[in-house]
Amino acid sequence: MENNRIWLSLAHMGGQEQKFIREAFDTNWVVPLGPNVDAFEKDLETFLDFDCHVVALNAGTAALHLGLILLGVQSGDEVLCQSFTFSASCNPICYREATPVFIDSEKDTWNMSPVFLEEAIRDRMRKGKKPKAIIPVHLYGMPAKMDEILEISRLYEIPVLEDAAEALGSMYKSVHCGTFGEMAALSFNGNKIITTSGGGALVCKSKEFAEKARFLATQAREPLPYYHHLQIGYNYRMSNVVAGIGRGQMLVLPERVEQRRRNNSFYREHLSGIEGITFQTEPSGDFYSNYWLTTIVIDPAKTNGITNEDLRIALEKSNIESRPLWKPMHLQPVFKDHPYYGDGTSERLFKSGLCLPSGSILTEQDLTRVTENIRNLVR
Ligand SMILES: Cc1ncc(COP(=O)(O)O)c(C=O)c1O
Repeated sequence: MENNRIWLSLAHMGGQEQKFIREAFDTNWVVPLGPNVDAFEKDLETFLDFDCHVVALNAGTAALHLGLILLGVQSGDEVLCQSFTFSASCNPICYREATPVFIDSEKDTWNMSPVFLEEAIRDRMRKGKKPKAIIPVHLYGMPAKMDEILEISRLYEIPVLEDAAEALGSMYKSVHCGTFGEMAALSFNGNKIITTSGGGALVCKSKEFAEKARFLATQAREPLPYYHHLQIGYNYRMSNVVAGIGRGQMLVLPERVEQRRRNNSFYREHLSGIEGITFQTEPSGDFYSNYWLTTIVIDPAKTNGITNEDLRIALEKSNIESRPLWKPMHLQPVFKDHPYYGDGTSERLFKSGLCLPSGSILTEQDLTRVTENIRNLVR
């Protein structure tokens, strides 16, 4: 084993985070609201460069949950969700006692297939139920085909709740991911492009939704001197201490996007010419991925039988963390009884893909160690 472990995606502080945390302590704003929260929300609105309202929360999962509540999703409803994703994209559908209907990916972006999306909507409507929302995901930072998805959303009048947890800094046709849907979820989990150690945000087009989200996220407390509640609330707001980390991270976000994209270019350059390795790739100039994670697909027919799992194990032996691609939700035992529309694309990707170390904190030496290990195994 080599000494220093190369991790998949580590937090990468910019240097100013502690200044904002100290401010929170010095002013005793050590509560789940305050000046850092307000400023972090404003920073995100400015960065997204869109007339939107950001509500900082304690997780991206909380953002998706509140988004579904605001869209009126209730017990017995159906929600269309990309199957190829992390479980947090669809768990909140179940929190609402609604049913996820899983949509497969298309081959170029690896994200929600507009074709299967429309097929699913028509079939669910034929069966007597119009789905209540669409959750596309910009997986690993790659923008989904939002023009086509939004056209379907308009045609069938089903709102989009975008899962942009992995895609802060990504753009589709020069518009930021996270600003296409009626609402969008961002995540600042420890492994994301910027982090608050744990946290998230709901991006809303409408001010009313943002106000309602803030209200629900603070236990749905009515504006009265005593505690008075007309509905069920949640404890989902971001702490003012944690938001201080976010403010510091916002100062380096453009740099972090560049660094992750540079990692991606490095891998492409140094693994070029290896038969049987292909990358998740921007299909055209319309797509700008933050390349949160660089992901590859391995075709054993061209690598002398070496599989993605062989590669993962070989890297692990050299103290390098890599990770299989997300196992699609329609293949998860917990969701096995839910409807699925697709042609097996996400399953094939899962069975042949691998996420490579991608943190912005990686050095050229680290990246070289990864590519040399891969080249040694797959020649
Ligand atoms: C695609 C996707 N959706 C949702 C989430 C949930 O975000 P969080 O961990 O902040 O709750 C994550 C990340 O964790 C994610 O990768």
